[in-house]
Amino acid sequence: MNQIKIFSPASVSNLCCGFDILGFSIDGIGDELTITKSTNKGINIKEIKGYNVPLENNKNTASVAAQALLNHLEINEGFDIEINKKIKPGSGIGSSAASAVGAVYGINKLLGNPLKHEELIKFAMKGEFISSKTAPADNVASALHGGTILVNNRENYNVIKLPVPKNLYAIIHHPLIEIKTSDSRGILPKSVDLKIASDQLSALGGFIHSLHTKDFELMKISLKDYLVEQYRSDYVPAFNEIKSVADLNNTICCSISGSGPSIFTLVKSLSEAKRLKLLFDDIYNGKKLEFNSYITGLNSKGAHEI
Ligand code: HSE
Repeated sequence: MNQIKIFSPASVSNLCCGFDILGFSIDGIGDELTITKSTNKGINIKEIKGYNVPLENNKNTASVAAQALLNHLEINEGFDIEINKKIKPGSGIGSSAASAVGAVYGINKLLGNPLKHEELIKFAMKGEFISSKTAPADNVASALHGGTILVNNRENYNVIKLPVPKNLYAIIHHPLIEIKTSDSRGILPKSVDLKIASDQLSALGGFIHSLHTKDFELMKISLKDYLVEQYRSDYVPAFNEIKSVADLNNTICCSISGSGPSIFTLVKSLSEAKRLKLLFDDIYNGKKLEFNSYITGLNSKGAHEI
């Protein structure tokens, strides 16, 4: 096999009570990468279609991740990468992570899978660091593994795939403005008090339990963000309006995806997701904001060959 084409999904991170550690992949929305073995050594980004990202090998999250993988494997082969960049950078739905994951997943597969799937995360993270020096692994883990994940250990990137009830759906709204993760992290406090930490831990425990017991009431009271939403919400267009409508409609939760400006809302059925998506679309249209909106289950596939 000399060439492979990969789909690598967008993802929601900061699933309310899981700042930097909980995320899920988005069904059908993602970057496409075509990777071809080359006689030239190393990684070469040949072409980028779609949204604009750096073509330079040392600035592109896909090439940096791919080169880290080649360095580790100590192989002299070369690969050309064409990226169809379908996720807008600075969207809050894991744009940089998707490209980085797609590159390492595809090259590992072209090489006959010398590394296990779960070993790829640390190389994808080398790419993610290029876009944000302090980036946690929540989006990368979601894009690589698919479904809903918990990053259980930041140093070793131990990722746990969580069991999610089939009828849980997310509506995602992405206003087409860019918020850099580094800027969005810069406005956060450097420390939190013990009461807040305790409330957040209690919520996280409740959420994990609710997944195992399919207890939607426990899920709803547990999916609360005490850490970051309050600091970032002013920078996210239409957030207060969307959240008010979500609350009025008794959704499970509504919060900011990653570092914004995307917003996600969890509901208990596809029909409810479709109904609310239209209501939220109207809010953005009323504000004359350009946006994309999606519906996804929380068990969608991670990076895969297409
Ligand atoms: N969890 C990160 C943040 C974004 O909220 O800053 C994605 O890694």
